[in-house]
Amino acid sequence: MKHLHLLGLLLLSCPCLLLCTVTPVVVGIRREAEALVKWKASLDSADDSFGSWSMANSASLCRWTYITCDSARHIKELSIFKASLNGTLDEFDFSAFPQLKSLYLLDTGLYGTIPAGIGNLTSLVMLEIHRSPYLRGAIPRSIGQLKHLALLHLTFLGLNGTLPEEIGNLTKLEKLELHSVTLTGSIPPTIGMLGKLQELRLVGNNLTGSIPMEIGNMTQLQIMELESNYLEGQLPGTIFHLVKLLFMTLSENQLVGTISPELGNSSLWDIDIAHNNFSGLFPPSICVAGKLSAVSAGHNGFTGIHRQTFQNCTTLELVDFTANNIVAELSDCFSEHPEQLKTMSFSQNQVHGTLLTDRGEDFLCNCTHLHLLDLSNNALHGGLSKCFWKLQYLQFLDLSSNSFSGVVPFSTTCQERLKYLLLANNNFTGTFSLGLKKCRNLTTLDLGGNSFSGTIPSWVSMSLPELNFLRLSSNMFDGIIPHEILQFRQLQVLDLSKNKLTGPIPDDFTNFTGMAQEQNNNDFTYSDAYSYQVKIQIVWKNADRLYIVVIAGMAGIDLSGNSLSQEIPNGFTTLLGLRYLNLSGNHLSGCIPEDIGNLVLLESLDLSRNQLRGEIPRGFADLKSISNLNLSTNMLSGRIPMGDQLRTLDDPSIYSNNLGLCGSPLEDCVSSSTPTQAETSLDEDRETLWFYCFVAAGFISGFWLYLGFLFRSETWRYSFYQYVDNMQAKDLIVW
Ligand SMILES: *[C@@H]1O[C@H](CO)[C@@H](O)[C@H](O)[C@H]1NC(C)=O
Ligand SMILES: *[C@@H]1O[C@H](CO)[C@@H](O)[C@H](O)[C@H]1NC(C)=O
Ligand SMILES: *[C@@H]1O[C@H](CO)[C@@H](O)[C@H](O)[C@H]1NC(C)=O
Ligand SMILES: *[C@@H]1O[C@H](CO)[C@@H](O)[C@H](O)[C@H]1NC(C)=O
Ligand SMILES: *[C@@H]1O[C@H](CO)[C@@H](O)[C@H](O)[C@H]1NC(C)=O
Ligand SMILES: *[C@@H]1O[C@H](CO)[C@@H](O)[C@H](O)[C@H]1NC(C)=O
Ligand SMILES: *[C@@H]1O[C@H](CO)[C@@H](O)[C@H](O)[C@H]1NC(C)=O
Ligand SMILES: *[C@@H]1O[C@H](CO)[C@@H](O)[C@H](O)[C@H]1NC(C)=O
Ligand SMILES: *[C@@H]1O[C@H](CO)[C@@H](O)[C@H](O)[C@H]1NC(C)=O
Ligand SMILES: *[C@@H]1O[C@H](CO)[C@@H](O)[C@H](O)[C@H]1NC(C)=O
Ligand SMILES: *[C@@H]1O[C@H](CO)[C@@H](O)[C@H](O)[C@H]1NC(C)=O
Ligand SMILES: *[C@@H]1O[C@H](CO)[C@@H](O)[C@H](O)[C@H]1NC(C)=O
Repeated sequence: MKHLHLLGLLLLSCPCLLLCTVTPVVVGIRREAEALVKWKASLDSADDSFGSWSMANSASLCRWTYITCDSARHIKELSIFKASLNGTLDEFDFSAFPQLKSLYLLDTGLYGTIPAGIGNLTSLVMLEIHRSPYLRGAIPRSIGQLKHLALLHLTFLGLNGTLPEEIGNLTKLEKLELHSVTLTGSIPPTIGMLGKLQELRLVGNNLTGSIPMEIGNMTQLQIMELESNYLEGQLPGTIFHLVKLLFMTLSENQLVGTISPELGNSSLWDIDIAHNNFSGLFPPSICVAGKLSAVSAGHNGFTGIHRQTFQNCTTLELVDFTANNIVAELSDCFSEHPEQLKTMSFSQNQVHGTLLTDRGEDFLCNCTHLHLLDLSNNALHGGLSKCFWKLQYLQFLDLSSNSFSGVVPFSTTCQERLKYLLLANNNFTGTFSLGLKKCRNLTTLDLGGNSFSGTIPSWVSMSLPELNFLRLSSNMFDGIIPHEILQFRQLQVLDLSKNKLTGPIPDDFTNFTGMAQEQNNNDFTYSDAYSYQVKIQIVWKNADRLYIVVIAGMAGIDLSGNSLSQEIPNGFTTLLGLRYLNLSGNHLSGCIPEDIGNLVLLESLDLSRNQLRGEIPRGFADLKSISNLNLSTNMLSGRIPMGDQLRTLDDPSIYSNNLGLCGSPLEDCVSSSTPTQAETSLDEDRETLWFYCFVAAGFISGFWLYLGFLFRSETWRYSFYQYVDNMQAKDLIVW
């Protein structure tokens, strides 16, 4: 009885205990489960990974996918990633999750907008929504209610609203990243209230207006990335008061004005202000604090740097002032601590003077760790020092388009790391130096537009097996083109134009594989720690073109403006990746190779100013990419083939000054049923030409021997031409 009494007491008190403490938890958990199930039901679709999400299963909520609970069995983290889910957040009852600390929605198919209700997640510390390109609208103002938020990452969304000023209410925020979510409008000054912020990344949006001066209030900031927006106006001076700032990226905006000398006092490691409209002199001293390692200031309007600008920079590794208006001599600028420097570009400025010091050394030789040096397109003159070849880390050297002169002092050593050597458009003299023989890893060699002379050595392909790009144009090279040139297995661009080369074009293309198929690699980009745009000049569609970066898939041969003779080798037609071929202005004779139509990627073909004979091969109709053609000033005759793409080239001058071409865009061919006197003689001429062409095209030799036999009889010869003519007529009908 006593026992029963006790038990009764226990039974009476237990529900009380349950009611008093456990029930609200159970109710809360049930509400969370209901909210998730309701949201799931609202989706257009959700994959099997959400199978556990059902009320029948609500007792085990904490074991549902994508959910992590706290010790009180409330959901503390909802992390949906890579789920095949399609739907909106409209039916998501955020107020059901007052305990939620982390919400991650990564790579989902969410569309619609971010609901204002998100402001009810009052315990939230981490919020990350990544890659939902159909999520539109603005960041709701209620975001300001997330008082505990420390991390807000919204990346790769399709938003199209502004950054609300309530962002300033998130005073516990440490990391704010809004990357490529296409925010519009300006950065609200309230951002300065984020006194705990360490990382601010607003990259790749459509932000306009100026950078608010209040940004200088974010005293804990270490990383500030605002690149790729439309920010304008001057840089607020307060920015340099951010004593903890290490990385600042403002590139690709429309910022103007000068850079305050206070930059020198900052503790920055890395400053990137490229592609803006900054101007004036660069600050006289940028390394007072002494930690700077990279200054990327290309594509602005800076007019000068001070001699002592880099004086105390003991850690400087990268200096990029490409494409400014800098008028300066560089010789003293890096004299103090040159050994750290790895990357230096002053390309496209007005840098003048020489690279040699008074003692004939030049100053760059103390930059023993240089990887990349680009001084192209400046006004430098004088000779080069031998010491270039001792820079054992050098991978990229571009001195093109200056006024350097003299013999390039190649030494017997060439550092194996050297991959890009660009000396074009100077006044260098001397021969194709044996010193290059050791540069075994060279991929790009441009000596064009100088006064180099002598022959092209036969060792070049054996010694430089990695070469992709070889340009020797506009020099005074003479002699024949060595047949070894066709031993380059990786060459994609060969430009020997405008020299004094003679003899035939070598013709065994078996090993010349670099152009044998479409290439999609980006071999003309240089990237080390720092990716860099390589500029190489090629003549493309009769216009000089400075190729900025990536000539993905570019393949071409230019042998124009020499004195090359004999036939065009049929082997060219095996170079299926070829996009341009220029053989103009030589003494080439014979016919155009029959199989030229194989070159379906060929966009530009110039065979003008030679002595080519015969008809234009029917295969021309297959040149489906051709957009630039010149066959003028040859001895071609017959009907111009018709093809869909060829038809678009309707400028008659591209066929002008030949023996007798007819058909669109020239005059119609006169019907052969009423041959005029001229036609008859032309026909006779054509017969000999056909004969000739089959020899030139290297028609299958067995067949040729057979025909040779037949041709002894005039009758057979006549029927053969009849046959050929009929074949042509047939094909014309098909076209
Ligand atoms: C998502 O659902 C909407 C509406 O049913 C539909 O228009 C859209 O194509 C779906 N998207 C995907 C990626 O399935
Ligand atoms: C919070 O949720 C309630 C519904 O539970 C809603 O009425 C309210 O608008 C939400 N608060 C905000 C700021 O959106
Ligand atoms: C952002 O700018 C780009 C380029 O100007 C434009 O195409 C796009 O529509 C803009 N997006 C928004 C949301 O304004
Ligand atoms: C954002 O995009 C939506 C849908 O495309 C459009 O209705 C809305 O007007 C846009 N808002 C802004 C501020 O551009
Ligand atoms: C939130 O931000 C708005 C706009 O900046 C401001 O007016 C409001 O006072 C802030 N609220 C709180 C509680 O700080
Ligand atoms: C924030 O920055 C502004 C402008 O630089 C300044 O006037 C103000 O005093 C700063 N506020 C705080 C709290 O530091
Ligand atoms: C740099 O800091 C020093 C010491 O604090 C100060 O004297 C000097 O004026 C500052 N220079 C600039 C340009 O702000
Ligand atoms: C470099 O440091 C020295 C010694 O501290 C100082 O006298 C000089 O002014 C500094 N130069 C520059 C350009 O910062
Ligand atoms: C290069 O370094 C050497 C040895 O450290 C030094 O004697 C020489 O003056 C430096 N040359 C230049 C141009 O700074
Ligand atoms: C140069 O090329 C050789 C192979 O030809 C390779 O073994 C070597 O690692 C390369 N050196 C550099 C520095 O790239
Ligand atoms: C190039 O150098 C040669 C020989 O030194 C000289 O005759 C010629 O004038 C120079 N050409 C230019 C454009 O400087
Ligand atoms: C192609 O290269 C191989 C190997 O180097 C060589 O033996 C062969 O003679 C070359 N063929 C031609 C046609 O040059």
